[in-house]
Amino acid sequence: MKHIRGARIAGTGSYAPPRVITNAELERMVDTSDEWITTRTGIKERHVADDGVASSDLAAEASKIAMAEARITAEEIQLVIVATVTPDRLFPSTACTLQEKLGASNAAAMDLSAACSGFVYGLSVASGLIGIGALDRVLVVGVETLSKLVDWEDRNTCVLFGDGAGAAVVVPCETGRGVLSTSMGSDGSLGTLLELPAGGSLHPATQETLNTRMHFIKMKGNEVFKSAVRSMETVAKDAMKKAGVGADEVALLIPHQANLRIIEATAKRLGIGMDRVFVNVNKYGNTSAASVPLALDEARKEGRVKEGDLVCLVAFGAGFTWGSAVLRW
Ligand code: UT7
Repeated sequence: MKHIRGARIAGTGSYAPPRVITNAELERMVDTSDEWITTRTGIKERHVADDGVASSDLAAEASKIAMAEARITAEEIQLVIVATVTPDRLFPSTACTLQEKLGASNAAAMDLSAACSGFVYGLSVASGLIGIGALDRVLVVGVETLSKLVDWEDRNTCVLFGDGAGAAVVVPCETGRGVLSTSMGSDGSLGTLLELPAGGSLHPATQETLNTRMHFIKMKGNEVFKSAVRSMETVAKDAMKKAGVGADEVALLIPHQANLRIIEATAKRLGIGMDRVFVNVNKYGNTSAASVPLALDEARKEGRVKEGDLVCLVAFGAGFTWGSAVLRW
């Protein structure tokens, strides 16, 4: 269907749980060092949700801030999309739980599973539905509580991840503003390089899956690293081409915050200087689906995104999945 109008982000919000785990604390938990984590990843600390706090709780906090900025009440939201790989439960969806927590009584609700690319995927779905005139007000949230699924005895992964949420309210606008283009891709053949093996229909929970620690995140970091840089370069270039803009016109690149070295390598390949790249991985670690909207919200609140600026979002994650969106703010 042809787009009859544009879609723009009318408000953003983010939230991270108050508890912070520093690299120094991790040194006391596993065989690691602040020096290793800092030089290999750029991460200094990450936020971790307390017991009993679920993804929907973080999502609700971020959503309320985004809705307030957009001047939209919960009743006015027509669709809630929650991008997450750490849902409160396998079902019902975290989006339904969020719908109830917000009082979004007129909204449909669904989860979107695309790991770290989830928010960009969600923004693409929202802007498409708004563009064809099907909906007028969509809440897109990226949220994770990865601390609950990380193996705190595995130094290869536990130092990398953190918890957080970012939200955006998407509404119609004139064409040529807001989301100018999106691009997405996937490659399921690489799925086992970053996975949570058990707890689904393939390996339901058994005593053996528990004993073999199959309910924790497993990652072959080095191979993920190489694919991440390649895919983010390609997908961002595709989104820019679709939008008819060059990398030199991008005021701010907001990449998925997994690793400072991945961010620097991607920016270099795109020809975008680090002065035009937003980085907050040092404070949050890798928050998967929350990373891009959390960075977008912080960038805006720090005055890094001005009216009329061209902003490029780009992400890569388990699946593998990748996605990019170019926005005229
Ligand atoms: O969200 C999207 C998906 N995720 C990512 O994008 C993450 C992608 N990958 C990465 O960020 C990096 O690959 C890592 C940070 C995970 C690892 O960095 P690397 O430079 O690729 O290191 P490596 O995997 O080659 O490991 C180097 C060494 C290994 O020791 P040996 O085998 O060479 O003796 C690891 O055992 O570093 C060791 N190591 C650690 N040492 C201290 C791994 N984790 C740690 C640790 N502390 N926490």
